[in-house]
Amino acid sequence: MARRTKDNVWDKFSRIGVILVLLYVMFIILGFAVRLLFFSDERGTSIIPEGNGVVASAEGTSAQSTAASETATTNENILDLSVEELDELIATANDIIANPKKYSEKCRGLKLATLFFEPSTRTRLSFETAVNRLGGRVIGFSDASTTSSSKGETLKDTILMVSNYVDLIIMRHHLEGAARYASEVTDVPIINAGDGANQHPSQTMLDLYSIRKTQGKLDNLTITMVGDLKYGRTVHSLIVGMSHFHPTFHFVAPNELRMPDEQKNFCDKHGLKYEEHTDFTEDIINQTDILYMTRVQRERFTDLEEYERVKNVYILRNDMLRNSRENLRILHPLPRVNEIAYDVDDNPKAYYIQQARNGLFARQAIICEVLGISIDE
Ligand code: CP
Repeated sequence: MARRTKDNVWDKFSRIGVILVLLYVMFIILGFAVRLLFFSDERGTSIIPEGNGVVASAEGTSAQSTAASETATTNENILDLSVEELDELIATANDIIANPKKYSEKCRGLKLATLFFEPSTRTRLSFETAVNRLGGRVIGFSDASTTSSSKGETLKDTILMVSNYVDLIIMRHHLEGAARYASEVTDVPIINAGDGANQHPSQTMLDLYSIRKTQGKLDNLTITMVGDLKYGRTVHSLIVGMSHFHPTFHFVAPNELRMPDEQKNFCDKHGLKYEEHTDFTEDIINQTDILYMTRVQRERFTDLEEYERVKNVYILRNDMLRNSRENLRILHPLPRVNEIAYDVDDNPKAYYIQQARNGLFARQAIICEVLGISIDE
């Protein structure tokens, strides 16, 4: 009897112990969930609203930029620009190429930040070169793990801090809508240098510039987009950028990486013609003016086995171009992995290296536009 009582007491204690451990675990999980939802800047948070943010108001920026900030563009998305405004940006880029000295002091006294939470070669370096060529100064980071965001600082706080130091922020982030969110927490203009799989507007400016330069026009072109159309922010932005110009699109992608409904609905709404294909054939290439190749983006896949299945699904080889149009140009936002064979590089229709170079001038033009800098003498 005494033994049974002792057992009962131990049973009771162990039950209470289990309940306490469960409560502790629930408390930890709840705390983590609250932090993730409201305070964190980790992938998957819900703190950032949807949007394609490119530019925010510049009112109230630091003293050096008073003149610029008075005229800077307010809450404007470069992809929303009119045909005339896009023409002006392209004309400015051409003027910058023709008269580099005229622009060498345009940003004198201004400071810009490049905040790259995601890797980049072209976008960051061309923006930084663009600032240098305009006479401005750059601060920033290319590896967020070396910043206080690795200690748990939120995107909001990082943006507010950097806003204390600079007149313009150029930001790349893995979260869709991050640039729009940043533009809502600061008065310093924000340029979206790519937000997750959403948009890459400055890439689109240099793409439009490259298309105009190689085709002599933007209207009524057939543009074939190949590869990762699901996660490819450059193709999402290019559809918007081309929407004024009556394009015909061919979307070539495996089923797993098809153009999302959002972009197809956009095409439907704006009367843009498109066809979808899973085979990348010479027949499609031969109808094309601009062949826009893209990389399958490993970093966007949650299932790496799926990536392995589709990563080399389309490879453009030189012999596939034998009957292509004379005016065909091959574009690629780069980096390339395997999707363009190296034997294409020597084909005069390969334009991707020049395309990246055009990014420098397009980005100089964008910076002048965003800061409201007069391009007259
Ligand atoms: N096109 C592009 O965005 O290249 P990076 O990722 O190197 O900046």
